[in-house]
Amino acid sequence: MMMLDSQQHQCFYSMFFFFLVVLVSSVNGVTVPETVHLDTGGLSRDVFPKGFVFGVATSAYQVEGMASKEGRGPSIWDVFIKKPGIVANNGTGEVSVDQYHRYKEDIDLIAKLNFDQYRFSISWSRIFPNGTGKVNWKGVAYYNRLIDYLLEKGITPYANLYHYDLPLALELKYNGLLSRNVVKDFADYADFCFKTFGDRVKNWMTFNEPRVVAALGYDNGFFAPGRCSKEYGNCTAGNSGTEPYTVAHNLILSHAAAAQRYREKYQEKQKGRIGILLDFVWYEPLTRSKADNYAAQRARDFHIGWFIHPLVYGEYPRTMQNIVGNRLPKFTKEEVKLVKGSIDFVGINQYTTYYMYDPHNQKPKVPGYQSDWNAGFACKILVIVITLLATMLTNFIYVRNYFLFLYT
Ligand SMILES: *[C@@H]1O[C@H](CO)[C@@H](O)[C@H](O)[C@H]1NC(C)=O
Ligand SMILES: *[C@@H]1O[C@H](CO)[C@@H](O)[C@H](O)[C@H]1NC(C)=O
Ligand SMILES: *[C@@H]1O[C@H](CO)[C@@H](O)[C@H](O)[C@H]1NC(C)=O
Repeated sequence: MMMLDSQQHQCFYSMFFFFLVVLVSSVNGVTVPETVHLDTGGLSRDVFPKGFVFGVATSAYQVEGMASKEGRGPSIWDVFIKKPGIVANNGTGEVSVDQYHRYKEDIDLIAKLNFDQYRFSISWSRIFPNGTGKVNWKGVAYYNRLIDYLLEKGITPYANLYHYDLPLALELKYNGLLSRNVVKDFADYADFCFKTFGDRVKNWMTFNEPRVVAALGYDNGFFAPGRCSKEYGNCTAGNSGTEPYTVAHNLILSHAAAAQRYREKYQEKQKGRIGILLDFVWYEPLTRSKADNYAAQRARDFHIGWFIHPLVYGEYPRTMQNIVGNRLPKFTKEEVKLVKGSIDFVGINQYTTYYMYDPHNQKPKVPGYQSDWNAGFACKILVIVITLLATMLTNFIYVRNYFLFLYT
C-alpha cells in the first residue's frame, strides 16, 4: 500500500504520471500477441538467492468487506472514511473485494501466479469488537478458514496484527494510540492471536508502517483519526508538535510488549518469529554542501531512525532528541530493556529515494513533526528533467525495451 506525506504526494503523483506517459507511449502502436515471450534481460526467479520469498500483501479493511457484519466492531477508519471528501464516490470498506467470502478464489489466484506467501492483516475489531473483552468467534472462524486454505494451497501465511485499524471503542474510551493504555490492550489482542493461530502462522508482524500511523494520523490528519494542529491540516483537534511523538512511542511500546509475550509464551513451542513492517524511503543530499548533507541525515533520522533506532539501540536518534527536545518522550530503563532487540526481523516496505536540501527556514511558531525535519524535497526539479528526457526518448523506437530494462 503506497502511503506518502503531503509533500511526497506531489512528487509521487508527478512521477506516477511520468511512468504512465512512458507506458502509454511504449504500448502505442504495438500489437501484443496472445502469448508474449517477454525479454526479461535474463531476470528470472533463478537469479534470486535460494529461499527468496515472493509474495503478495493486503490489509484487512481494504479487502475483507463485511465491515459491520458477523460481529465485527467498527475501527477508526469506519468513521473516518465517512467524512465527506476523504474517499472518492463515498467509497467505504463495507464490501470492497469481499475477501471474507471469496478468500478461496483469491488464494487460488495467488497459487496460480506461483507466489510463495500471502501477508494479510487481522482486523483487531473483528476479533475483539470493543478492542478488549468479549471475543467474536465468527471472526476467529474466518481467519481459521483463511489460514487453513492458504496452507492447503502451499502458500505460507504472514500475519500482520495492525494495519491502521484501531478498534473505535478504544479511541472513544481513552483516545486510542495517544494513551499508554493501548500497550496492554494491544499485547492482549496479540497474545490471543498467537495462542489461536500460532500453531499454523509462523511469521508475525505487529504493525504495518507505524510511522504512517503517527504522521498521517496526527501530524497532517490525512489518515484516521485525522488529528493535527490547524496550521498543518484541516483538523478539528490535535497537536502536530507532540501527538505524533506520543503515538509513535506508544506504538513502539505496544510492539515490544507483544513481542515479549510471543517470546515468553509461544516462540519456543510454535517456532515462529516476530517483527515489524516499516516504510522506508532513502534520502540523498541534493548538493555536496554540509547543509544539504545534514538535511538528508535529518530526513533519514526522522523517517527511518524514529522506529528502527529504538528497536535496535533502545533510544531515539540523537538528531531527533536534539531537535524535538522535551516534546519527544523518553524510554525508562525498563522500557529500554523491553524495546531494544524486540525484533527477529524487520519488514522493509521500500518506496523511493528523494534528494533533500536545507531550506534555511526559520523555526516555525507552531511545531510539527514534518516541519521538525527542516528539510526540503527537491524532487520537483528532477521530475521536470525526467519529463523532458522522456519526451525526447519516446520518439525513439526502442524506448519500450529501454524502459522495460530500467523498470522491471
Ligand atoms: C456522497 O455523499 C454526499 C453526502 O451524503 C452526497 O451529497 C454526494 O452526492 C455523494 N456522492 C456520491 C458520488 O455518491
Ligand atoms: C461492546 O460495548 C458495548 C457498550 O459498552 C456493549 O453494549 C456491547 O455489548 C459490547 N460488545 C461486546 C462484543 O463486548
Ligand atoms: C475541512 O473539513 C471540513 C469538515 O470535515 C470540510 O467540510 C471542509 O470541506 C474541509 N476543507 C478542506 C479545505 O478540505
